[in-house]
Amino acid sequence: MTKEERMNLLIDEKYPLSAKYDPKLIFDNKMGCHNLWLVESLARMMKLKPGMKVLDMGCGKAMTSIFLAKEFGVTVFANDLWISPDENWERICEAGVEDLVFPIKAEAHDLPYAKNFFDAIISVNSYQFFGTADTYFADHLSHLLRAGGEFGLAVWGPEHEFDRMVPNDMQPSWWPDFYYFHCLDWWQLNLERAKLFEAINGDDMDGDGVRITRRWARIMDKTDVMHNNGVMRWNRIVAKRNSSQPDDHRKW
Ligand SMILES: C[S@@+](CC[C@H](N)C(=O)[O-])C[C@H]1O[C@@H](n2cnc3c(N)ncnc32)[C@H](O)[C@@H]1O
Repeated sequence: MTKEERMNLLIDEKYPLSAKYDPKLIFDNKMGCHNLWLVESLARMMKLKPGMKVLDMGCGKAMTSIFLAKEFGVTVFANDLWISPDENWERICEAGVEDLVFPIKAEAHDLPYAKNFFDAIISVNSYQFFGTADTYFADHLSHLLRAGGEFGLAVWGPEHEFDRMVPNDMQPSWWPDFYYFHCLDWWQLNLERAKLFEAINGDDMDGDGVRITRRWARIMDKTDVMHNNGVMRWNRIVAKRNSSQPDDHRKW
């Protein structure tokens, strides 16, 4: 396949909102996936309305933040660690959403926001880097999300948790830190245990999680087993915060 044919695959009719964006912009600002397909699919499961305040945790190059502001009229705090807010601000201004998107540099365990500030928190292809500890949501995010607000995740992972090690045929393209990729059930249980949500829903991007993994592999010219054997897929999870906060058992 030529580079041009691969670039054409960035536009997918199943993601009509993402299809409005320049493929070159998407390609130049990728960080391991087609972030607009992921956020478009996630947003379909959420109730985003103009005027809402949304935290985009691990926003990378702020493409998902720009998308949410443009498509849903929400105000987004584009929070990242590795990508500078100066760089993101340029992209935000070029996209014409400087009134709606605010770039912030903050580490996930030391977030500078007020309690109950956000109507929604999302994280696209990022939460695995900081959110796998049993206590992460309860200790570092829960207080920022207002009662009844939604928490949305798009994460890549295997169909089921591996029995000990990743299968042999996937070993050549598997880095040791990839064990932070978990299956849908694992994430749902991780959130359920926090006892901070009244509803948790999730699926493999409405049955599209394997297809978009393979499509991304074609775009990137990856022929490895890991991207093509149908084990790894994208999942989305939306959890609705309890209407009232349970007592904090750690108060002495
Ligand atoms: C693979 S990139 C994905 C970026 C973006 N969401 C996207 O889909 O294009 C993961 C992002 O997580 C952020 N990240 C990783 N560890 C973090 C931490 N401890 N605190 C805040 N952000 C973190 C990084 O800065 C990085 O931009």
